[in-house]
Amino acid sequence: MEVGHLPVLAEEVMTILSPRPGSLQIDCTLGGGGHTERILEASSPNGRVLGLDADPAAIDRVRERLARFGDRLVLRNADFRDVGTVAPAAGFARVDGLLLDLGLSSFQLADTERGFGFRAGGRLDMRFDPARGVPASELVATLDAAALADIFRRYGEEPRALRIARAIVRDRAIAPVDTAERLAAVVERAAPAAPGRRRVHPATRVFQALRIAVNDELGALEAVLAAAMDLLQPGGRLVVLSYHSLEDRIVKRFVATERKGCICPPELPVCVCGRVPRLRAVGPQPVMAAPDDVTSNPRSRSVRMRAAERIAA
Ligand SMILES: C[S@@+](CC[C@H](N)C(=O)[O-])C[C@H]1O[C@@H](n2cnc3c(N)ncnc32)[C@H](O)[C@@H]1O
Repeated sequence: MEVGHLPVLAEEVMTILSPRPGSLQIDCTLGGGGHTERILEASSPNGRVLGLDADPAAIDRVRERLARFGDRLVLRNADFRDVGTVAPAAGFARVDGLLLDLGLSSFQLADTERGFGFRAGGRLDMRFDPARGVPASELVATLDAAALADIFRRYGEEPRALRIARAIVRDRAIAPVDTAERLAAVVERAAPAAPGRRRVHPATRVFQALRIAVNDELGALEAVLAAAMDLLQPGGRLVVLSYHSLEDRIVKRFVATERKGCICPPELPVCVCGRVPRLRAVGPQPVMAAPDDVTSNPRSRSVRMRAAERIAA
């Protein structure tokens, strides 16, 4: 069976972006091109999309699958943290919409050579861009127990972080913990699922934490949100789909700060920071998937969507 990737909250995203003919949009997380395809269809005949992905395999796949849109779709294999330079260079200096659908795609999860899923027998890599940074296997092989535990705690909110980290250090002295399958087994042995939580694999938080660390996902998110402020024209809309609380917290705080503008301490009688509101929230904050959506697209189970509109300074 061919693996597919159904776009999450597709109707909701399209309602917010409302792409019109002639509009310019940036899809910072191209993945399987699901959202991009919808945007291109809705903005026919001449709306354009710049699609970015750190993963060259995503770019190749979408280039072929969406070839029918011709030069209305511009693709770049780039990290979205660099969108502030990549987009203007591609002719997208001022845009009507910018979309972030964070995390990994079904294609990446299904590719056993990438090490994202628990059952992957290949190397424990987890990089979105396999040519950049260090693979997860290197962190697992070289960091001491305290540093590993810090990653599991900070990015996975894993309560048994130190116990798991110590088990890894112990087990890797016997045989390398360099496949996803082996890491999942080590974690499961060190911290088995509590009764009643057997549906969630006990290594879920550890895998999330390593992936976030390997790709510096939170740093990339902060950078792209800041860059979006210069790219969106007044009336342009930002839509972010996040899948765990660490990401959602960053987006929520960012939108709150940009709605407020001034960041002076409340005890100051007058504003000295000179910052003005640059965003207004659009729609409920956050939007979550309806039960029917979760049934038809399980990836949407944990999604939180936040949307905002750029306002003239
Ligand atoms: C959830 S998928 C996007 C799915 C897409 N919206 C669709 O409908 O097919 C997320 C994609 O973002 C990419 N990605 C994650 N972090 C990135 C980053 N910092 N820069 C560029 N792409 C990134 C991943 O490689 C993955 O392909």
